[in-house]
Amino acid sequence: MPAIRHGAKGAVISGWGTALPEKVVTNEELAATMDTSDEWIRSRTGIEERRVGGSTVGLSVESGRQALEMAGLDPSRIDALVLATTTPDKQWGTSAAVQNELGLFCGAFDVNAACTGFMYGLVTAHGLIAMGADRVLLIGTDTLSRITDWNDRATAPLFADGSGAVVLESVDGPGQMLGWDLDADGSALSILQSEVGGTIKMEGKEVFRRAVRIMVDSAEKSLAHAGVQIDDIKLVVPHQANIRIIRAACDRLGISIDRASVVIQRTGNTSSASIPLALADALDRGRIEHGDLLLLVGFGGGMTAASCVLRWGGGLE
Ligand code: ACO
Repeated sequence: MPAIRHGAKGAVISGWGTALPEKVVTNEELAATMDTSDEWIRSRTGIEERRVGGSTVGLSVESGRQALEMAGLDPSRIDALVLATTTPDKQWGTSAAVQNELGLFCGAFDVNAACTGFMYGLVTAHGLIAMGADRVLLIGTDTLSRITDWNDRATAPLFADGSGAVVLESVDGPGQMLGWDLDADGSALSILQSEVGGTIKMEGKEVFRRAVRIMVDSAEKSLAHAGVQIDDIKLVVPHQANIRIIRAACDRLGISIDRASVVIQRTGNTSSASIPLALADALDRGRIEHGDLLLLVGFGGGMTAASCVLRWGGGLE
């Protein structure tokens, strides 16, 4: 991936929001309907419960509104809406419906890169700001429960619904993005896929094996572009697919899992929402301070991988 051009207009995140459906489905509840157990799901995935329900538009409007409120911005001031989702409510127009319900007056489009959608959207949003936009609303939302086969014990415990949003604003001087990487390996498409109108099909072991490798590769590229070492990173914000994948990736990168934001135990895998949900959780808990270096890294169907290094709040060229 190319390095960020010197002098390109930078951005910082000035607000964030989250939305989870009200309905909680525990592991015990799943075990009552299929041949599985709380112990198996917890030990193999780290998931204890997940949220199920709602629509991609509805969850996006909720998280997006919160992010706008925190940024203190009237909706009319947003220059572009980027909606990362792999589960749009309709073939097209999902982002346009969100734009309308939020009262935005700007362009709106969907980004579909499976579970890396938010990361692809984050790089795209920075690109829009480099091209002259001043304020971009980026929302990552998925309603994977709608494309989950609830009779398949190999996939049903993993996937769930949720949304996370951030407002990005242009800044004078250096922005937050120090380095980024977007990657894809289409030769691995068959190990994790969903036909239009179908459900998620997955070769779990193979996805696991490749996920760790592709995440670590991408993270190392972003660290190199940013010119920083893993020891400089205050917090890793990884895609929440499986606690064992997060642990293995942290081990290979040489950073303690204590320095990762983990919400999978209560969210499951929410795809495009997973990284913004983990980021918001860390922010709300006060784990991130101005000037901290963050490594955001994810992987997803395709297979895709993406990562970036952010300096929280920007500054310090
Ligand atoms: N409950 C109980 N037993 C189960 C369950 C279940 N829910 N699912 C599988 N098993 C059984 C299997 O049948 C197998 O039994 P056997 O030994 O008698 O044959 C045994 O448990 C082990 O199964 P494995 O598939 O080998 O289990 P593994 O340790 O690999 O864990 C898992 C499976 C959790 C799916 C893991 O492989 C994984 O997390 N893979 C990555 C998945 C992932 O991240 N997907 C999302 C990608 S993100 C995106 O873009 C959507």
